[in-house]
Amino acid sequence: SKQEFIDYVMKQMTIDDKVGQMVQYTYDGGDVTGSAIDKNYIKYTKQGMMGSVFNATTTDITRKLQKIAVEETRLGIPLIFGYDVVHGYETIFPIPLGEAASWDLKAIEKSARVAATETAAGGVHWTFAPMVDIGFDPRWGRVSEGAGEDTFLGSKIAVARVNGFQGKNLYDLNTVLACTKHFAGYALAQAGRDYNSVEISDRFLRDYILPPFKATVDAGAGSFMTSFNEIGGVPSTASKYLYDDILRKEWNFKGFVVTDYTAIQELIPHGVAKDLEEATLKSVDAGIEMDMMSGAFLNHLAKLVKDGKVKEEVINTAVRRILEAKYDLGLFEDPYRYSDAKREKETVMKKEFLDDARDVARKSMILLKNQNQVLPLKENQKIAYIGPLVKDEKNIIGNWAARGDRYGKAWSVWEGLNDVLGKNAKITYAQGTDLNSTNTNGFQEAINIAKNSDVIVAVMGENENQTGEAASQTNIDLPGNQKELLKELKKLGKPIVLVLMAGRPMTISWEQENMDAILYTWYPGTMGGLAISDVLYGKYNPSGKTPMTFPRSVGQIPIHYNQKNTGRPYLGDADAEQKYKSRYTDSPNSPLYPFGYGLSYTNFDYSNLKLNKTSLKNGTDEIKITVDVKNTGNFDGEEVVQLYVRDLVGSVTRPVRELKGFDKVMIKKGETKSVSFTLTPEDLKFHDINMKYVAEAGDFEIYVGGNSNATLKSSFVLVD
Ligand code: IFM
Repeated sequence: SKQEFIDYVMKQMTIDDKVGQMVQYTYDGGDVTGSAIDKNYIKYTKQGMMGSVFNATTTDITRKLQKIAVEETRLGIPLIFGYDVVHGYETIFPIPLGEAASWDLKAIEKSARVAATETAAGGVHWTFAPMVDIGFDPRWGRVSEGAGEDTFLGSKIAVARVNGFQGKNLYDLNTVLACTKHFAGYALAQAGRDYNSVEISDRFLRDYILPPFKATVDAGAGSFMTSFNEIGGVPSTASKYLYDDILRKEWNFKGFVVTDYTAIQELIPHGVAKDLEEATLKSVDAGIEMDMMSGAFLNHLAKLVKDGKVKEEVINTAVRRILEAKYDLGLFEDPYRYSDAKREKETVMKKEFLDDARDVARKSMILLKNQNQVLPLKENQKIAYIGPLVKDEKNIIGNWAARGDRYGKAWSVWEGLNDVLGKNAKITYAQGTDLNSTNTNGFQEAINIAKNSDVIVAVMGENENQTGEAASQTNIDLPGNQKELLKELKKLGKPIVLVLMAGRPMTISWEQENMDAILYTWYPGTMGGLAISDVLYGKYNPSGKTPMTFPRSVGQIPIHYNQKNTGRPYLGDADAEQKYKSRYTDSPNSPLYPFGYGLSYTNFDYSNLKLNKTSLKNGTDEIKITVDVKNTGNFDGEEVVQLYVRDLVGSVTRPVRELKGFDKVMIKKGETKSVSFTLTPEDLKFHDINMKYVAEAGDFEIYVGGNSNATLKSSFVLVD
C-alpha cells in the first residue's frame, strides 16, 4: 500500500535526506519574482538535497533533471516539478479574472483541465494555481490572477479550478497537482501596494477571505502556498494560527505547504527573525513544509533537528506529505511518465484546446456600454481600427502566461478580423499611438482613416506588465496619451467602440461618458483576436459580468458591493440631510459599474419572483426561489441570473448584500425561462458576536436580477 511504501522509503532516509525533500529551487537559477540567491540546484539535486524544482519545462529538460535525481542519488527519490500554470501552459486562456467574468464554472473547469493536460504532457507535475485571494483593490496588480471580489463566486471558481487541475485521480496523465495560494489575505495589502502589510479582523478574515481556501481543501487540493504579507503583525510564513490552527486542525488539510518565493528569508526584513536560522525555526514551527528559494531549510533545518530544536516527527510529517504527492502522481512507479516527447508533441496546442480557449475568451468579455446598438458591427460597414492593441500579440495573452508564445502563435485582433471577415473585410488600420506614449505623431493618420469610416473601433488598454506581481499602480486610467487620441477621434462625430484590454478594472469614467460602446476583453489569451472579432460582429453575444466593482476613481478604492451599511448610510439625492453621512463630497458613493454587471446584445426582463415559503426553519430546512427571465430583444443570449441576500439584523453588522446563488442560462429571443435557487440556513452562516459560525434567526431580504443592484425583491424569516 501507499503508506507501507512510504514507510519503507522513509526508514532509509537520514535527516539530511528528509530535509532535502523539503527544498525547492528554480531551474533557471532564480530571478523569477525576486532575486536569485543560489544557483547550485544541480549540485543539490546530485547530493539528494532537492525534493522539487520549479520552472523546468518540456519533456526533454524534465527528463534530464529527473535522471540526476533518480540515478545519481543514493535513494533515487524522484523530483516533483512545479510551474506557474495560471491560465494555460502554451494554449493561453483569458487571465483568471477574465475567466471569472464568464461566471461559467464548466468553462473555467475545462480551461484548468486543458492547462493540466498540456502541463502534464510537458513534463510538469504541479501548478502553482489556483490563486484564490479575494480582493477589492484594483491598484494591486495581482487582481488579474484571482476571481475578483466575491467570496461566494470566488469559492465556486476555486473549486472548479482545483477539479480541473487535479481531476478525480492525480495518477491520470491529464491532471496535475494544484496549489491553493496565497494563504492568506495577500490581496488586502494596504493601499494596494504589493507585499504590503494586511490589517483585518479575524471575523473579516473568516467571513470574506478564508472560504475559497477552505473550499479547495474540501475539494482535495494537494498543496497550499504561503503569502508574502504579514497579517495582524505576523508574516503568514510564520503563522501558526493560519497553518496549524486553521489549515491543519480546523480544516484537516492533508496536503503539503510550500512557501512563496524567498518568503522564509523575508522573515528577517519583516523583523520577526534575526537571522535565517531563526526564520527557519519560525516557519517550521508554523507548519511550513517546503522552502521555495530561501535556502533556509537547506542550510539550517538539519542542524535544528540534530540540536533538538525541531522535533524529527515534524519533518517526518512534512516529508511524508511530499512523498505522498509524488506517489499519487505515479512518480515512484515511473519517474519519467510525464516526460514523454511523443505525447508532448501530440498534446500541446492541439486544435481542440485552441477551440476551447476561443470559447472561454468569448465568454469572458463584458459589454459595458452599447448606446444605440452600435454593436454588433455589420460586415458591410467600413470600420477604422485604431490603437496600439489592434496588431499586438505580446500583450493579448496577458501576464503569467507560462510558455505562451507572445509573438508567433497568439492571434492579434487584426489577424482575427481578417480570419472572421474573410476577403470582403472593409477594415482599415492605424496604430495612432503606443500604450504608454506621449508622442502624438501617429494621431493624424488615425484621424484620416477614421474620417473615411462608418464606425471607429479603438483597441486600447494597459501593457500586460502593468498587471501581475509587483505591478501595483496609483493611477489606473488608460495609460499614455490613448485618451487624448480618443478625444481627437470623438471630434469627428462618428460612433466609437472602445475595446479595452486590461488585467484589472480601470478607471474609465470619461470613456463611459464619451464612447458609444465599450467591450472589456481583459487579456483574452492565444485566441484573443478571433474571440474579440466574434463578439464585435455578433458571432457570439457577450455574456460576461464584472467579477469586481469598477470604481469611478482611485479615490473610491477599496470598493466592493458587499460592504456594511454604517451608522450613517447615505441614501443619495433622496437624502434630505446630506452632510453628516457616509459619503464623499466630490463623488457619488456608487461605482461606475457594480459587481455582477454586464450587458448583452439582447435584453432580459425579470418578473414573478416567488418563494415556496416565507419562513425557513434553522437547521435542515430549505427555501426554493424562482424567477422568470424573458429575453425581450432580438438576439439569443446568455444571462447570469444572480441571487443576493441581506440579513437585516445580526449580533454583528452584516453586509448590505451578499451573493448566494447564480445561474448562467441561455435564453432564445422571445423565450422566458424560469430559474430557481435553493437557500438553506447553511448559506446564511457567518461568524457571530462570539465568533461562532451560525445562522441567526431574523428577517432576510432577497434580491434577484442581472447585477448586484438588482431591484426585484422579496423576503423571508429564519426561525429557530
Ligand atoms: O507562484 C508564484 C507566486 O504566486 C508569486 N511568487 C513566485 C511564485 C513562483 O513563481
